Amino acid sequence: MRAEFSVNGTRYDVDVEPRRTLADALREDLGLTGTHLGCEHGVCGACTVLVDGEPVRACLMLAVQADGCSVSTVEGLAADDGTLHPLQEAFCAKHGLQCGFCTPGMLMTALDLLDREPAPCRERIREEMSGNICRCTGYVGIVDAVEAAAQELNP
Ligand code: FES
Ligand code: FES
Repeated sequence: MRAEFSVNGTRYDVDVEPRRTLADALREDLGLTGTHLGCEHGVCGACTVLVDGEPVRACLMLAVQADGCSVSTVEGLAADDGTLHPLQEAFCAKHGLQCGFCTPGMLMTALDLLDREPAPCRERIREEMSGNICRCTGYVGIVDAVEAAAQELNP
């Protein structure tokens, strides 16, 4: 089946099996391996991308369901010249990552949160990020990072 969607502003026309997930299409058909796959059951959040601005588990969505949609992945966060997004900077500065496996999903979830709520309190950050699992950091650095990015984006 054919599906046509944009990823980070670039238009793609893919020919995929009906049951191919959006995550597999991104990673294997388009080579966008920044979106990670952990549980592949909608539990860990590592595969989180934005579809038409809404956070989505890319392991649970079929590629054909993205037909006509606009997808945002972690590859689109940094500027064209390589300058990191304030969220990426904050995750580095505040030790919001160790192995980095959960980080793409954390960043996209945080991006959605700060888009809807520019100045969330720590409790809201914890609540909104609670669907993303990190086995390394203990989460404090992640909350610190999202809080710091919010302040940077909305001084
Ligand atoms: S890989 Fe999609 S939620 Fe875990
Ligand atoms: S940094 Fe390793 S899983 Fe989060």
